[in-house]
Amino acid sequence: MRDPLDDRELTPPPSFYEARSTRQKARAAGLDPDRWYAVEYDREIKNGEVKEVQFWNLSMALFRGDDGVLAAVQNRCPHRHLKLTHGAVEKCQLRCAYHGWSFNREGLLTDYSHDSFGKPLIKSRLRTFPVDVRYGLIWVFPGNPELATVQKIPEIPELMTENPWAGFTVDYTWKTHHSMVIDNICDFAHAFLHRKYQPFVDAKLTHYESDDDKVYMTYDTYMAEGKFSKYFVNRKRVNTRSIEICYEYPYQWSNTGDSIKHWCFLLPIDERTTRVFFIFYFDSVKIPLIPMNTPKWLTQIVLNASVPLLFRPLLAEDGVALEAEQIGYESHWNAPPIELNPIVPLLQKLTAQKWQGYVDRNVRSEQAAPVAEAEPEAAVV
Ligand code: FES
Ligand SMILES: [Fe+2]
Repeated sequence: MRDPLDDRELTPPPSFYEARSTRQKARAAGLDPDRWYAVEYDREIKNGEVKEVQFWNLSMALFRGDDGVLAAVQNRCPHRHLKLTHGAVEKCQLRCAYHGWSFNREGLLTDYSHDSFGKPLIKSRLRTFPVDVRYGLIWVFPGNPELATVQKIPEIPELMTENPWAGFTVDYTWKTHHSMVIDNICDFAHAFLHRKYQPFVDAKLTHYESDDDKVYMTYDTYMAEGKFSKYFVNRKRVNTRSIEICYEYPYQWSNTGDSIKHWCFLLPIDERTTRVFFIFYFDSVKIPLIPMNTPKWLTQIVLNASVPLLFRPLLAEDGVALEAEQIGYESHWNAPPIELNPIVPLLQKLTAQKWQGYVDRNVRSEQAAPVAEAEPEAAVV
């Protein structure tokens, strides 16, 4: 018998296949594995180290050999199915912690480390994943490797020149679905959440359009109105009264006055966990009382100081709201969606459509399996 005061749903949110509304579909959708995803900082995996990274429940072992070259393989030993991240990197190979089977970067079993009982080395190959490094981040292609050269890591020309803009990267792992993050960073109706730091004030949506790959929008707003941040923006040179934002699936970017930009790269770890990498970059900032734009080295110093004082706590506010939204959705997933900003349904529709496209490309039976289960049998024994 249900407590009449308890208004929570009796069941957990529907799967993608059971979902009845676009919002429910978006909240259950994965992100298309046939794209490149930032998974870790390049500096975080040193020579001889291995680390687990996870994409939508698919666990991968990311390791760097003694020669500095990275590789990503399925994180499951074909022998007894231990995670290979329990093991160790030896030269350029990954050795399982239990019986010591060793795999090279191509995923091939090369030796056992124990007696072979008179049998030849079995043919066994781990699933492998294309890896690249860009903008200080390690990128992995979790889907069909043949598509890794077709799909591109987003180009950021300002960071790819010999004299790149000053900038920084921050990341968070939030207990929230990735579609909630996209809603959050594209919908500027949440200025109240940031009333302390005031990164944007009085936002008015002025234009939006969408197609099969993106949702683009512009807002008129007052950018960087915070107590301290407002002194570091040159409003004579940079138009801080408007911002353009784009959900360029599965990534997101913004541009303020061609001078302040960011990209957001999502790593959907599972249905309610998302790692978010933000890269912010600036062509220059202004120092109070100094009537000139800063040179790049000084811009970088100002930005480095602003990360712990402004950007980290500001974005942490989003994390608090998003984790609360996830909890709210899990209890009230069947409540009628109420949205005022017209871009929000478009964002959710794009996420749902792209996942449907992935599912349709990978149908094995009546329902496509989740990424983790779609993994082909590893051992050819
Ligand atoms: S479980 Fe990995 S070598 Fe036996
Ligand atoms: Fe925010």
